[in-house]
Amino acid sequence: MSTNAESPIALVTGGSRGIGRAVVLLLASRGWRVAFTWNSSPESARAVAEECGDAALALPLDLADRSGPARVVAEVEDRLGPITGLVNNAGVLDSRLLAMSSDEIWDRVIDLNLGGVFRCCRAVLPRMIRRRKGAIVNLASLAAIHGVAGLTAYSAAKAGVLGLTRSLAREVGGRNVRVNAVVLGYVETSMTSDLGEAVREKLRRDESLRQGVSPEMAAAAVAHLLSDDSSSTTGQQLVVDAGTSG
Ligand SMILES: NC(=O)c1ccc[n+]([C@@H]2O[C@H](COP(=O)([O-])OP(=O)(O)OC[C@H]3O[C@@H](n4cnc5c(N)ncnc54)[C@H](OP(=O)(O)O)[C@@H]3O)[C@@H](O)[C@H]2O)c1
Repeated sequence: MSTNAESPIALVTGGSRGIGRAVVLLLASRGWRVAFTWNSSPESARAVAEECGDAALALPLDLADRSGPARVVAEVEDRLGPITGLVNNAGVLDSRLLAMSSDEIWDRVIDLNLGGVFRCCRAVLPRMIRRRKGAIVNLASLAAIHGVAGLTAYSAAKAGVLGLTRSLAREVGGRNVRVNAVVLGYVETSMTSDLGEAVREKLRRDESLRQGVSPEMAAAAVAHLLSDDSSSTTGQQLVVDAGTSG
């Protein structure tokens, strides 16, 4: 589908790989103009932008950068127009035992996965509130609900994302801005490629649906929560885990 000046505009963090890439491609195919960020993979980002034709704009953003989100949001609105959808997808996994975790590691995992969501929401919200229009989708993990040994910092950050989602939905619902989360089970991406074979087999065994969860299925849930099909839904978490937690 081609885009025009009336096409809605989304900002997706971490669109260079994995689930974020699938979100960018799906939104572009559905007529959105999409800005997406990359951190360490400029080549992958360029390839994703090329796949979208003229529907995508790729910008660098390190979530550790305090002023980065405000700069990116301003540039996207200058170049494309008003952002109506924000997808907080970028994240990092760190797998180690709590007793072996330094303060620096703990702070980094919480800051990137939770602080980054806070800063991106803060950058875009005044504009959405002023226009009385917007939808935010935050990527969370089953680890926030079920607990996974070795992922304490990541689980805590993602549980924080769920709390942020519910409270922020209360804050901005009256201004017609929706905030929801997609809670994912195991998805095969570069984030999970370092998990050992035994761990991955166990994760797959826990799923009821043999197809598992692909990046494209995760993207479909994100697109649903961004779209007007879910215009009465806010403060919710949509679990996409092939039945793991069922
Ligand atoms: N895969 C799973 O099983 C799973 C399960 C539950 C939840 N999730 C969540 O889904 C989201 C996407 O995960 P994924 O599996 O697609 O991960 P991925 O393949 O590792 O991709 C991560 C993305 O985040 C970006 N990123 C990493 N560090 C960043 C930083 N410091 N600043 C800004 N951007 C940064 C990367 O950009 P560059 O490539 O440019 O570095 C990349 O685009 C994450 O929030 C993750 O926690 C994933």
